[in-house]
Amino acid sequence: MEALQSNIAHIGKPTSRVDGKLKVTGRARYAAEYPAADLLHGVIVSATVPAGRITKLELDRARAVPGVVQIFTHENRGKAAWLDRKWRDEVAPPGHPFRPLHSDRILFDGQPIALVVADSFEAARDAASLVRAEYDIDDFCTELEVRRPEAYDPPEKRSGIPPPPEPRGDAEDAFDRAKHRISSEYRINAEHHNPMELFGTTCVFEGPGQLTIYEKTQGSQNSQGYVTSVFGLRSKNVRVINHYVGGAFGAALRPQQQLFFAVMASLELKRSVRVTLTRSQMFYIGYRPDTYHAIALAADNKGRLTSIMHDAVAATSHHEDYQEAVVNWSGMMYHCDNVKLSYALAKLNTATPCDMRAPGASVGVNAFECAIDELCHDVGIDPLEFRRINFASIDENTGKMLTSKALLECYQQGAAAIGWDRRPVKPRSLKDGRELVGLGMATGMWDAFLMKAAAEAKLTADGRLEVSTAASDIGTGTWTILAQIGADALGLPLEAITSRIGDSTLPASPVEGGSWTAASNGSAVMAACEAIKATLFKHARAMTNSPVAQAEYDDVVFAGGRIALKNDLARSLSFAEVMHAADLAEITETGKAAPSLLQMRKYISYTHSAVFAEVRVDEDLGVVRIPRIVCAAAAGRIINPKTARSQILGGVVMGIGMALHEEAMTDHRLGKIMNHSLAEYHVPAHADIADIEVIFVDETDEKVSPLGVKGLGEIGIVGTAAAVANAIFNATGRRVRDFPITLDKLLA
Ligand code: MOS
Repeated sequence: MEALQSNIAHIGKPTSRVDGKLKVTGRARYAAEYPAADLLHGVIVSATVPAGRITKLELDRARAVPGVVQIFTHENRGKAAWLDRKWRDEVAPPGHPFRPLHSDRILFDGQPIALVVADSFEAARDAASLVRAEYDIDDFCTELEVRRPEAYDPPEKRSGIPPPPEPRGDAEDAFDRAKHRISSEYRINAEHHNPMELFGTTCVFEGPGQLTIYEKTQGSQNSQGYVTSVFGLRSKNVRVINHYVGGAFGAALRPQQQLFFAVMASLELKRSVRVTLTRSQMFYIGYRPDTYHAIALAADNKGRLTSIMHDAVAATSHHEDYQEAVVNWSGMMYHCDNVKLSYALAKLNTATPCDMRAPGASVGVNAFECAIDELCHDVGIDPLEFRRINFASIDENTGKMLTSKALLECYQQGAAAIGWDRRPVKPRSLKDGRELVGLGMATGMWDAFLMKAAAEAKLTADGRLEVSTAASDIGTGTWTILAQIGADALGLPLEAITSRIGDSTLPASPVEGGSWTAASNGSAVMAACEAIKATLFKHARAMTNSPVAQAEYDDVVFAGGRIALKNDLARSLSFAEVMHAADLAEITETGKAAPSLLQMRKYISYTHSAVFAEVRVDEDLGVVRIPRIVCAAAAGRIINPKTARSQILGGVVMGIGMALHEEAMTDHRLGKIMNHSLAEYHVPAHADIADIEVIFVDETDEKVSPLGVKGLGEIGIVGTAAAVANAIFNATGRRVRDFPITLDKLLA
């Protein structure tokens, strides 16, 4: 830390992606782009019913297509693990992981029922279109409403997801006695991740039991572990590479169908195989589950919260209990003595949901922050003032202290940037031409995790530094920030640093998720670099006539490829001289990051934000425009303001998607998603996005991680949809509690 601060050239400086040129020139290779000799292509055939059994598979016409090599079904699937637990990956929820082609049973619409393998993609696709299946259809349910009475508490909790806290105070009594209270039901419909890059795997058959796998994943080692466990292979024989990932948002945390199929076919056929999912098939590999929220809030006439009740029901599949922290946020966003929260699941005949950007918070905080806005309206208090009055300075769910919380600064700077004082106090009171104008705001919150991670750093005598860790860059900027951290640690130019990530053979890393990569892998890289400095210093002191012979470690600086005395910079040694004298061609050291269990007993860390939105609503047409959004975030130290800003922009755009556009439309009579394409599943397009301002509030946090970093891949989405919805209420006086707020709901 000390050394970093004395020599900061790159950390905190807006820095273009080191992989940017490769990406824009098309030279960055993605999983399905790697060449392989004699490559076969597999295309998945998907079920067209949501539940039941396959009674007949008609394969003859598919087999007759020239170039078809093999068709795998549940009747001839290759060997794979029998035990359920062998199919569990690092981030699997409790339950029975889905096993492709395990039997004739259908668990969800879109489930793979066959893999057609051919010597060209075109032949495989053509043949796949000719596979016919007949089914016995069982009863099914894909609709959350119907299942509400049957919602249940999952018997086994998902690891890493805190259950709702025990009730505190007497929320019901406080509610009954309150001067001001609201009680509302919110619904947020299912969403799908839709990253640009299709899910793909190129499995290169290197020899019996030996594979190199180019894979779209947020965790090369998670995929490697899955493959070795499911297929009984040895870790040293399976290498997974994910150098570049074209977006993922959580969809690539767990190993997906294409990985299983590419590996299974490759092992069976002893050939290299590529499998890519279609855009449509990507709608069956996990989604943000639909959620219902019943929220009751009360306040006194000074605007002090006196009761919070939030009950949520979320969808999951029949085979797994997918869980996220949905209601917990409601117990710690503000100070309140009477709190009662619950979270239950409803099993539906769908694929298992999976983490999608700020899982839990993006929906739970959204509903809660809209309800808070309703309460403010009832009390007749400014929503920003209300949030200041009810500021929570500790984590009220656990009683733990916070390592930092610069949220009041977020409120202040965000409000100034949007011009909050021009907000019409009375809803539906400001019109500009045909449009009603309104302002709204919301608070955002997300975890700041430090995970266990390892790294290696290698300094060579030519003054180059290589830093490695099996992290992934899913568009977040990991390649770049690790180079920045390495450069500042040793005082070298950015060009002298090479990052190595996206390879399961590198030092251990968790999946790239939870917004923890910068803090965790970044801190591990810094630790490895610190170890190199210690070694350099030790050798420098040992040199004959060394200018640092009498110095302590704290008396020297590392800059410009030299070790120098802090108080006499002219007295220095180059790294090359030191290494030459010690007869070293290179110095390699490792470093680790891990949370401190001692600290975790007393402290907990979160990222905070305040989101402000201006909307304009044309009531005749129901069209909502969002000319301006301000997101002010407190996320600890910002390593790279350029890529960091880009993360917040992406999160805000996704929040706008939740507010106005994104929704899976299921025909519940058929149990099928009907809009499984980008033509019909709407995400915000350029014309939907206008001015987004990102503010990073100064926040120094020495405890959250060795680097002081909190992470910000997810905070940008949290609160954004609520800020938009609250602005729509301010503009129109209409409160829509069913997301997304499409124009039909405003016209109704
Ligand atoms: Mo994130 S939903 O942990 O990729």
